[in-house]
Amino acid sequence: MSKIRIGIVGFGKIARDQHLPALRANDDYELVAVASRNASLENVANFKTLDEMLESMPELDAVSLCTPPQVRHGQARSALAQGKHVMLEKPPGATLSEVDDLAAQAERAGRTLFATWHSRHAPAVEPARRWLADKAVRAVNVQWKEDVRTWHPGQEWIWQPGGLGVFDPGINALSIITAILPQPFFLTEAELSFPQNRAAPIAANLSFIDASQTPIRAEFDWRQTGPQTWDIHIDTDEGRLTLSKGGSVMAIDGHVELTQDEAEYPGLYAHFATLIKAQSSDVDVRPLQHVADAFMLGRRLDVEPFIEE
Ligand SMILES: NC(=O)c1ccc[n+]([C@@H]2O[C@H](COP(=O)([O-])OP(=O)(O)OC[C@H]3O[C@@H](n4cnc5c(N)ncnc54)[C@H](OP(=O)(O)O)[C@@H]3O)[C@@H](O)[C@H]2O)c1
Repeated sequence: MSKIRIGIVGFGKIARDQHLPALRANDDYELVAVASRNASLENVANFKTLDEMLESMPELDAVSLCTPPQVRHGQARSALAQGKHVMLEKPPGATLSEVDDLAAQAERAGRTLFATWHSRHAPAVEPARRWLADKAVRAVNVQWKEDVRTWHPGQEWIWQPGGLGVFDPGINALSIITAILPQPFFLTEAELSFPQNRAAPIAANLSFIDASQTPIRAEFDWRQTGPQTWDIHIDTDEGRLTLSKGGSVMAIDGHVELTQDEAEYPGLYAHFATLIKAQSSDVDVRPLQHVADAFMLGRRLDVEPFIEE
């Protein structure tokens, strides 16, 4: 198959840090264009908007949308309407129904839609899923705590409706546990802490159960300074599995079984190429469903205002 001619849309932090190197290292792709209002990249065609890119480059095969979730549906609709394959950064949209709409549109158009969950490509996630497959899970505890000032400086969209606040990182943990736990699980209680001056939560405590009444707790917090925590502990009938560093390290009863440098975005682009070749899509909305449930069922707490400086 000839190379997939791809354009990046929204040339911000994640596009520069991860998408660009992953695309450059993958022979299945040729990065031919960037569409971004305030940024550009040398040696490719540059456009201010996706619509200009689609208009000027009919030869494009695919686009990778790295914009904030609030604008993704409109962009994905336009790209699919022009017959392009579409890769969506996480979360795949600002609402569940717009993601359903895109999946249906991709199906009708016979194009690939890939709703990515980069954390699922962390090296210890698939080994953890395999280890858990024949165990009885007794309890799950997720600790996802980081400093918003370090990881999201100046990102106003993340505090707006649809930006998800602390669920922007928290959904990564949900994408991992929905992939590795042997049974589906359901939210029973949630507490969301909203800074008085912001439209999105800065912290969230979630309680879930599965059909066997297994308690599953998740604590997300953006106010953690010092060491950062991206850990998942799963107690089973045969010991405790811990995934730490966002899924890069796996330990059983405290003994490290696997530790590996992360290669999440190379994994995402390899999967996107496979989906395009197979003429199929991959759209799993379960992590976003849990976030939507938390907004539906959660008790809202007002906490101190968040001032960036
Ligand atoms: N940062 C991370 O570590 C990370 C990790 C994994 C996934 N993600 C996901 O990737 C997505 C983007 O995150 P990011 O951190 O890269 O954000 P970002 O640095 O703010 O970059 C997004 C880019 O999209 C463009 N954009 C912003 N608002 C727009 C609008 N209203 N219309 C059109 N374009 C707009 C902007 O570029 P122009 O101003 O040039 O148009 C902006 O630089 C989010 O969904 C996030 O959850 C981020």
